[in-house]
Amino acid sequence: MNFKEEYRMSKNFSLKEYDSYMKKKPLEQLMILKMLYESFKNQNNVRLVEFGAGTGRFTKLLIKRFPNFRITVVEPDKNCCLKLQKLADKYKNMKVVQLTAENFPKNKKFDIVAMTTAFHHISFDKKLKFIRIVKSILNKKGIFVLADNFIAEYKSMKERNDVLKKSMNKWIRDAIVEKDTEELKMAKKMKSLVFGKDFGGEYFICNSKFEKLIKESGLKIKEKINTTNTDPLDMEIYLYLIRP
Ligand SMILES: C[S@@+](CC[C@H](N)C(=O)[O-])C[C@H]1O[C@@H](n2cnc3c(N)ncnc32)[C@H](O)[C@@H]1O
Repeated sequence: MNFKEEYRMSKNFSLKEYDSYMKKKPLEQLMILKMLYESFKNQNNVRLVEFGAGTGRFTKLLIKRFPNFRITVVEPDKNCCLKLQKLADKYKNMKVVQLTAENFPKNKKFDIVAMTTAFHHISFDKKLKFIRIVKSILNKKGIFVLADNFIAEYKSMKERNDVLKKSMNKWIRDAIVEKDTEELKMAKKMKSLVFGKDFGGEYFICNSKFEKLIKESGLKIKEKINTTNTDPLDMEIYLYLIRP
């Protein structure tokens, strides 16, 4: 399989560094597995598409829990695709597609659309386009499960920058107080990215903006869970269960 030189995540983070950092944070992913199990435990031929699969952190959990699912993973980063392809070589029900989520074709149908910690990489002007694609590819009884970090509420872009700056500074302060060097490194890197060119490819939004996009697309939010429940300035992780 040949993948194009199209870097996303691996341009900014070493993939090893990313996996080691994220190992501590699988709660929302475990919650998604439980939700999927409750809805699909007795079904055959379940088709799932995962967008922004990265290094396969969530894909591996999915395969272990649901060995019979037919899984398509969509990921633009060449180095991530190479890792995902290694997994696909072992697990024949899995297919790797090198593409950005917002360019995925609308002509296929899936029972489950999953996206973990990747929606914030879709640029502001492409987010609604992507959600409309999800609406088109979801089967009538399908579900869209999305987990991501959301920033505190804002009304204008100027206010967005203010809350984002407060979040980044809090992250750095907390890491210093906790003497957590790995966290401090990640926080400083993220601060330089989100205020850099093209927002460093990190287009974080607040919950109300996301929920407005979902409403505009015609999809419906059935559950919304704050999996961190600490402080809105912590860029808390929310899990959404969305249906047609
Ligand atoms: C933070 S990682 C999350 C990976 C994985 N889902 C996880 O939970 O560990 C985000 C991934 O989204 C990918 N990405 C960036 N832009 C994207 C886009 N427009 N569409 C889909 N994925 C994108 C990045 O290359 C990266 O692999």
